[in-house]
Amino acid sequence: MSHTSRGLVQDGSSTQDGVLLCSLAELKLRFLCPSDLPEITTNPRFYALAATFHSQIIGLLVAETKPLSKMNKEDQDILPPSLTGQTQIGYILTLGVSDAHRGHGIASLLLDNYLAQLSAHESPRVQAVLLHVLTTNHRAIAFYQRRNFVRHTFLPYYYNIKGKPKDGFSYVRYVKVVKLRTADPTYITDGYVVTLMQEYL
Ligand SMILES: CC(C)(COP(=O)(O)OP(=O)(O)OC[C@H]1O[C@@H](n2cnc3c(N)ncnc32)[C@H](O)[C@@H]1OP(=O)(O)O)[C@@H](O)C(=O)NCCC(=O)NCCS
Repeated sequence: MSHTSRGLVQDGSSTQDGVLLCSLAELKLRFLCPSDLPEITTNPRFYALAATFHSQIIGLLVAETKPLSKMNKEDQDILPPSLTGQTQIGYILTLGVSDAHRGHGIASLLLDNYLAQLSAHESPRVQAVLLHVLTTNHRAIAFYQRRNFVRHTFLPYYYNIKGKPKDGFSYVRYVKVVKLRTADPTYITDGYVVTLMQEYL
């Protein structure tokens, strides 16, 4: 962990604007367990990682793995049609950090862990990670864009917030090199534009 200047510190703790910053010794990552949320934790489709500080959950990432064919219609073209509907997609259902603990790298830690476990295998099962975000959520959009998520679709009235329709965007990040018929700049993996490869042609 190299981000020692803005919050996460190796030992001891400090405060900023009255908010206790996290010390590495006290910040822990753990998977949710059935006593937290039985519906999710008993289903292997879900990945639910929590960041805790003094044993309190202060950040959470929940993602679901599902086949492309089960994604919303408007999201199914994140991968080329040459891939079958059984291709697995990681869908981030939620990523959130409590107000008081934002800006200290906690969401980055959760997301990095999720992405690392997806690409840990030589042939990753999940080929792309998708999420939706409100078009007005500039902080989250900047966060994802800086982590190589690319905007996929504008989704008018995607959300219903307190009875009011709100627009959304879908964002996608490719986990491994996706092999395309043409070098389409939409398909980017870790910042590299994908080039032609034989396997999926
Ligand atoms: C978007 C959200 C999840 C970000 O959480 P966060 O914990 O503040 O995010 P991070 O601290 O990891 O990253 C935010 C910035 O803080 C910076 N930062 C500060 N201290 C840091 C540290 N010690 N380590 C790493 N990054 C640090 C990062 O550089 C990052 O800036 P960057 O994007 O320019 O790299 C949070 O604002 C949130 O919960 N929002 C409400 C819910 C939401 O909108 N979720 C997204 C839709 S699903």
